[in-house]
Formats: sequence, structure tokens, C-alpha cells
Amino acid sequence: MAFTFFMRDQPTLEHAADHMIPYASGRSRIKIWDAGCALGQETYTIAMIFAEKMNSFGFKNLRIDATDHDSANNFGDIVNAATYPNDELQRTPAELLAKYFEPAEKPGHSRVKPILRDRIYFQYHDLLSLKPAGQDYCLIVCKNVLLHFQYPERVEVFKMFHQALAPGGYLANENTQKLPQEVAHLFTQVVPDAQLYKKIGD
Ligand SMILES: C[S@@+](CC[C@H](N)C(=O)[O-])C[C@H]1O[C@@H](n2cnc3c(N)ncnc32)[C@H](O)[C@@H]1O
Repeated sequence: MAFTFFMRDQPTLEHAADHMIPYASGRSRIKIWDAGCALGQETYTIAMIFAEKMNSFGFKNLRIDATDHDSANNFGDIVNAATYPNDELQRTPAELLAKYFEPAEKPGHSRVKPILRDRIYFQYHDLLSLKPAGQDYCLIVCKNVLLHFQYPERVEVFKMFHQALAPGGYLANENTQKLPQEVAHLFTQVVPDAQLYKKIGD
């Protein structure tokens, strides 16, 4: 089972939102790709952070493509159901819990409210296909996934992310994931204390 949790590496996601929202303002469609989203905890964390920082009109224009290749464990059904044990929500601040979750039918579980669920589109996708899940992303989040890949595969996946981003779009990785030197010319690091990059070129 994939290791993941709500509010994981919140500082990087906050940085991503703080840079991406002003960059994307005025767009009628604002797209994020959460690549390797596992069971959705990261995806709904991203949705909560953006919902808190965007105005409600802008947030309705947001689309988050959540992808993972694990079809054996029915990740798609779990992400779409958006129902999680209350134990998993202990790190989530109480005001966010009250705003974005409701009691689920299953005892001891909570369900993400439609205001966030409606922004999420799950699809099965293998990053090693090197075909992007979509195009024109303002932000791609790919955290704790690429460490499992061979170095040449990582280089190719970063090139694919560069191609899938809109000009000037952002890419967020986990803090232990340094950019391979082969793709360093394609991105510029945005903040010194997080692996958040901005696309260079078209
Ligand atoms: C450790 S979890 C990370 C989940 C989340 N991104 C986070 O940081 O909490 C790694 C995820 O990457 C997914 N993954 C591994 N190889 C993949 C591939 N080739 N294509 C898409 N997803 C992949 C796994 O199925 C798993 O859900």
C-alpha cells in the first residue's frame, strides 16, 4: 500500500500555491496535475490549500488531474469515494476539517465535501509511458514517486513534465528530489527551501 498522508510537506504545497495563484489569475481554466497521487490524501490536501488561498470564483476554474498507475488496488475508486478514517485526519487543522469534511456513512470515517471533490479528476496513468496526462498545466506536483525510478527514467519524466506545463508553469517535488543536471536548463528554482521550480521556455 502506498505510503502517504494528509498535510504531507505542507510548506512546499503552500509555496506552490503562493506562486501559482497570482501567475494563473485571469485564466478561465487553471490546471494542476498531481502525479502519483496514491489514495488521494495529497490531492485533497492540495485542493484544501488552494481553496483557502483562492477566491471562490477562481477556485471553480481549478481542475486537479490526480493520477496513479496502481489499478490493482482500485486507487481510482478510493480517490473518487474520498472517504477516509478519522485517524488519518489528525494532522488536518480543525477549521479545515469542519469546512471541507463531513461525517461519512461508514462509522469512524469522514468524507471530503463536494466543493473539493468536484475539482478532482482521477485517471490511471503510468508516468513511465512518458505521455503526459494532459497539457497546459499551471502546476505539476510529483512527490515521493521518482525516487523509485532509474536515473535515466527520472530525466525523461522531468522532460515530459516540462512539455506538459504551460509556459511559466510550476513543478513541485519532495525535498530530497534534486533536479537532474540534464534538465537543469529547463527549470529555475523558485524558493531556496523547497523543491519548487518554474518552467523556462515554451
Ligand atoms: C509513496 S507514494 C507518494 C504519494 C504522494 N505523492 C505523496 O507524496 O504522499 C508513491 C506513489 O507513486 C505511484 N507510482 C509509482 N510508480 C508510478 C508510475 N510509474 N506511474 C504512476 N504512479 C506511480 C505509486 O503507485 C504510489 O501511489
